[in-house]
Amino acid sequence: MAAMLVTVTLLLCVLGGQAVDLLRATVTSGVPPPVPRVHCWCSSFPNVTLCSWPEPSHLPQTHYIATYSERHEPPITNNCHLIPPSHDSSSSSSSEQLWHCELPNLKLLTDYIINVTAVNSGGSSSYLSSFMLEDIVKPDPPVDVQVSSDSTSNLLVKWSPPSNWTNLHIFPLKYQIMYQQENRGTVSSVKLGPFERTEVELKGLTPGRVYGFQVCAKELLDLGKCSNWSSPVNITLQRTKP
Ligand SMILES: *[C@@H]1O[C@H](CO)[C@@H](O)[C@H](O)[C@H]1NC(C)=O
Ligand SMILES: *[C@@H]1O[C@H](CO)[C@@H](O)[C@H](O)[C@H]1NC(C)=O
Ligand SMILES: *[C@@H]1O[C@H](CO)[C@@H](O)[C@H](O)[C@H]1NC(C)=O
Ligand SMILES: *[C@@H]1O[C@H](CO)[C@@H](O)[C@H](O)[C@H]1NC(C)=O
Ligand SMILES: *[C@@H]1O[C@H](CO)[C@@H](O)[C@H](O)[C@H]1NC(C)=O
Repeated sequence: MAAMLVTVTLLLCVLGGQAVDLLRATVTSGVPPPVPRVHCWCSSFPNVTLCSWPEPSHLPQTHYIATYSERHEPPITNNCHLIPPSHDSSSSSSSEQLWHCELPNLKLLTDYIINVTAVNSGGSSSYLSSFMLEDIVKPDPPVDVQVSSDSTSNLLVKWSPPSNWTNLHIFPLKYQIMYQQENRGTVSSVKLGPFERTEVELKGLTPGRVYGFQVCAKELLDLGKCSNWSSPVNITLQRTKP
């Protein structure tokens, strides 16, 4: 069978966003791997940046080449340090196995290009994207969220910063709280904050109602995004004074 050479270039310009993604698939013969679905984020500013993408489940053996370079400099490419999926049998088999790669020591205010190329016997497909470190900051969620009450209408919500945001004293975090309440079968949610402290007292809540609290963390000067919400912590307010 004559080898085909097909090159598909897709330009997705995300208007208003910072990311410009270029997806390129080069097909030589057989079935090439899909373009990896890569997601990059800085979980501890400024020195911990990771990319991850799911491992395809049912295709021939695929390996990856992950590199990054500065966009406007002479083309020096650095290897992104690859970490294969752990294939941890204790984790649920339905959850996707993720590849990771680490991008150490990125410079501030610099445009980078990441290239994650999936290669198998059928060909290769590259994911290309540009980013600036400042735009992809996203801490891990706050931990140890605790909600307590010593009255019928007041609550104290406390939490701790994510432990792997290691430069907390130089780059402090601020927090948002979201709570959900159920009233006659209708769930509504309320967002509060940002707060720079790690505890908040809420007053004037409704006795007997169930409240579910979640917290997210964002870099104090608004770099990047708020973390994922922490998993909900529920509390039922007493109807009578404890
Ligand atoms: C990032 O910086 C912090 C504090 O300077 C340090 O403790 C940590 O080991 C560094 N992490 C990496 C991956 O370099
Ligand atoms: C991306 O990396 C692959 C594998 O190293 C390489 O063949 C390809 O030319 C790179 N693409 C760009 C646009 O640099
Ligand atoms: C954030 O949530 C998304 C979607 O649920 C998930 O894929 C991702 O792994 C989460 N990230 C962190 C840092 O927990
Ligand atoms: C951060 O630490 C938590 C445990 O505290 C761990 O589960 C998570 O994988 C770490 N995140 C990163 C991006 O290293
Ligand atoms: C908290 O409440 C929500 C909504 O009612 C529910 O989905 C969730 O499972 C509860 N979580 C816990 C830990 O009980």
